[in-house]
Amino acid sequence: MTPSCRIAPSILSADFAALAVAIDLVAPETDLLHVDVMDGHFVPNLTIGPPVVEAVNRHTAMTLDCHLMMTNPGDYLEAFRAAGADWVSVHVEVGDTAELVAGMRRLGLNAGVAINPETPFEAVEPWLGQVDHVLVMTVHPGFGGQKFMDEVLPKLRRIADAAPDHVVVEVDGGIDLRTIGLAAAAGATCFVAGSAVFASPDPASAVRRLRQLAVA
Ligand code: DX5
Ligand code: ZN
Repeated sequence: MTPSCRIAPSILSADFAALAVAIDLVAPETDLLHVDVMDGHFVPNLTIGPPVVEAVNRHTAMTLDCHLMMTNPGDYLEAFRAAGADWVSVHVEVGDTAELVAGMRRLGLNAGVAINPETPFEAVEPWLGQVDHVLVMTVHPGFGGQKFMDEVLPKLRRIADAAPDHVVVEVDGGIDLRTIGLAAAAGATCFVAGSAVFASPDPASAVRRLRQLAVA
């Protein structure tokens, strides 16, 4: 396993009324922060938009990894860029992927595609040579704290094998002290963790422990 693995705490599981406090707890341990954007349409939940990303960006120098669970992400790429998003991923299930990847590139974003658990490898395969990161969902998107879907591991392995070396293979959903090793063994190099970090009494040590297990 590569020692350059990254842990991206997801603020979805943090206290939204005390986001700055939550961010300050993990910032000494990692430089990547996962921001789950949900539109109430692509997924049955509503969360964060550009104003909150802008406020978070003013507060921290961490790289903001914005996961757009949206039906029309193209309408908002500029707004997220202006708000301070660094990495952006769009779901392949919404279509228009070529246009969306080109749009992210034009804006100078670190461009990513995300894929749902039930979506086949073939839907993401054409983009693996064109993106900077690929976000593999190991839960159905929409909520934190769900159970890791082991059945996604073979697809994760295929994606990791097919992706060029410079592409970051990020896994999202149900990552905890048990599952992170499974995802790492299947080739993931970047690990989103929401509840495993922010539901822990000590988020900083949770990040450290997850990293140890990912490189083990
Ligand atoms: C789910 C989100 C995840 C979520 C992960 O739709 O994309 O990023 O925050 O939360 P945990 O780690 O609790 O599964
Ligand atoms: Zn996410």
